[in-house]
Parts: sequence; C-alpha cells; structure tokens
Amino acid sequence: MNTNVAPNAVAAVSEARQWDRLMELATLGAITGADGAPGVNRQALTALDRQARRLLIGWGAAAGLKASVDVLGNLFLRHEGTEAGLAPVVSGSHMDSQPAGGRFDGIWGVVAALEAVQALREAGVATRRPIEIVAWTNEEGSRFAPGCMGSMAYAGYRPPETWDDVADAEGIRFGDALREHLAEETDIPHRGLGVVEGPRPHAYVEAHIEQGPILEAEGIDIGIVTGIQGSRWFLVELTGASAHAGTAPVSTRRDAVQDMVRAINALNALMADPTDVLRFTVASIEVKPNSSNSVAETVKFTIDFRHPDAAVLRERGDAIEATIKGAVKTCEVKLTERFNADPVTFAPQVTEAVARAAAAQGLSAKRIPSGAFHDAQFMVPLCPSGMIFVPSRDGISHNPAEYSSPEQLARGARVLAQVLAELANS
Ligand code: GLV
Ligand code: MN
Ligand code: MN
Repeated sequence: MNTNVAPNAVAAVSEARQWDRLMELATLGAITGADGAPGVNRQALTALDRQARRLLIGWGAAAGLKASVDVLGNLFLRHEGTEAGLAPVVSGSHMDSQPAGGRFDGIWGVVAALEAVQALREAGVATRRPIEIVAWTNEEGSRFAPGCMGSMAYAGYRPPETWDDVADAEGIRFGDALREHLAEETDIPHRGLGVVEGPRPHAYVEAHIEQGPILEAEGIDIGIVTGIQGSRWFLVELTGASAHAGTAPVSTRRDAVQDMVRAINALNALMADPTDVLRFTVASIEVKPNSSNSVAETVKFTIDFRHPDAAVLRERGDAIEATIKGAVKTCEVKLTERFNADPVTFAPQVTEAVARAAAAQGLSAKRIPSGAFHDAQFMVPLCPSGMIFVPSRDGISHNPAEYSSPEQLARGARVLAQVLAELANS
C-alpha cells in the first residue's frame, strides 16, 4: 500500500462540508426539545426519510458514487475499486432517528462514510476494492419494532418478509410502508439482498457517536470499539376486563394496570444487579381504554434488556415469562420476543486499523465497548467488523440535546478515511 495514500485522503476530509451536510439533514424532521435543544424526529420509511436519502444520493452522485437499493430499502452508494471482482469494504449506519432524537445518532456514520470516501476520491486515491456506503433501513426500531431490520435481512439473520405484519402506532404495516417506499425509489437501481444474494463484504466499519460519557470525561478523541453488549426486546400484553371505576368493587376487578405494576416490580427484582452492568428498561406503555374512570382492560408494555454476558442475557431473559406470570393476579399474559442480538466482539483487523489510524493522526484513543446496539452487530458473522466512536457531550443521546462538535466529528471522519483506505487496499 502506498503510504502517501492515507495522509492525502485524511487532509481532504472537510470539517465544514461534513457539518453543513449534517445540519441540512437535521432540518428534515427538526424538533425542539427541552431548553430549545434542536433535535430530530425522522422515522424509517417516511417521506422525511426519503427526502434525507435523496439529499445523500445527490451528494454521492456529485462525488461520482452510484446509488442502489435492495428489497429492504437499504441504500448503497458505491465507489469502484481498481481490481474487478473483489469484495467491497462497507461503511455506514442509519438515517432514521428516535421520536425525540438528536442530530447525530446514525446519520453521522452515513455522512462520515460519504465524507471519507469523497476525500479519498478528491485526493486522487484509488483503492483496489470497492467501498460501499450504506444507510440501513430502520435501525432505531421506534416506528416499527425491532431495530436493525435492514442489517438483519442483509446478513441473512432473518428473511426479509419477517416483519411485514409489524404495525406502527397508526396501524400501518411495515410491509405496506416498505412497498410504498420502494415504489418512490424505482428510479434507483435495484440490487440483490446482502449476503443472501451477493458476496460477503471484505470488512465493515461503522462510525457513530459514543452516546455515553466515557470519551468526553476522559478527554479522548476516538473510541476504538471493542464490541457490543447483547440485547433482547419483548412485548408484554396483559388482558383483563374493563369496568366502572366508581361502581366495580376492587376485589372483583381484572385490572391490567395493577397487574402491570406487579409485573414490573417482579421484573425489577429479577433484573436487580448490584454491579450496575445490566440494563433493564420499560419505556413504552399502551393502556386501553385509557380513560380515567374505566378500569384498564389491556396493557401492552415493552422490555429492553441488555447485558454483555450471553449467559446472563439468556438466563434472565428466559425467566421473564415465568416472572410475569407469577406476579400478575388476574390478567392473561402474552409475551413476544421481538429482538435478540448476541453480544459481539469486533475483529482485530478493524480495531487495530482504527488504533493505527488514530495514532498516526496524533489523536488520543481508548478501547471501549458499546452499550447501544448497532447494525455492526449483524455484520460480525459476515466479515471483520468494527466501529469508531467520537465523544458525545455529557454522554447524552436519544435526546435532542445530543451533541458532538464539528471538530470531534471531523476527527472521526479522518480516522475513518484512513481505515477505509487501508482496508480497501488489503
Ligand atoms: C439503538 O438505538 C439502541 O437502542 O441501542
Ligand atoms: Mn444509532
Ligand atoms: Mn439510536
């Protein structure tokens, strides 16, 4: 590999261009959070999502990159390599956001990949392998649960029709939203679905904001991500009976809210962890009929459970159903597992490339695990995979107050450019 390659490309990364693109994308779904923080609500497979994708495709086309889209709506921009037939290096993240999300989660990884590849091209750097920039469909899982649908389908982890019947809050089916979405993008060339219909990538690298407090607290520029903890998502449905709040004796009720409280208390005991490593979250609750003077007939609530140790994830996750059934008094219980992502360890081919690039650029770096899940989790079985983190102010994410500075993001893109140059020439 030509040792001049990376420095040229690194120098061509534009802090201003990357920031301006992020700010333009942040206008699509702009919301205002507490204290006026400028956030984003851009849900997967919506018109806003499509507008954001069109912006990206336009920037890519101007840089000479060809767009294509697969059956799950995963969007790719391709930089050609010099040697025909070699597997691509893939880099990107997601463009959808949380409902009260920030301007950087996911979208920065896509914009950073474009910035890095554009810098390589502007520096006149050719790579042996192609590089594909990817925007995965529905990573967040907030409109349609679970997250990471695009990467799971690409990896062959689940068939693409798996989630067709998943409905959003308006009752729109994922399969219908996807069909409508693809119909709006018929001018973009279609491609086969990931490793189900094509070759394994040579490597996968995802740049992302840390979403936690470590890098900022320690004054570190770059996180060399060592792996991702495992996650399991469940939907709990409790069914009782509605009754008049003024006339029905409490002893006769089948009150779904009261059983939900019992269930959550029991789950808190199951998930208790003195080491504070385990993550257990109930954050979405739907009550029907949702009227203050009618006893609740049904409750649906979500469970997000995470741990770095696969055994803990398996044992406590598998105990959830019995714990809920043992805790409720009167309701019927239905438990559905909606997401199951094993803990993963990233490959030294990528972690060491990130470490080398950060060192070569005089940046401080630290090895840290990811508490958030990412599409990278599903690339691990396919090819050497890894991630690059940059600091998040106050460790805040999934919140409009999420912030990383133009300079911090530019450092991340420069490291990514060097890593992509190295991997695409290996
Ligand atoms: C991803 O958004 C996650 O919830 O970890
Ligand atoms: Mn993300
Ligand atoms: Mn997220």
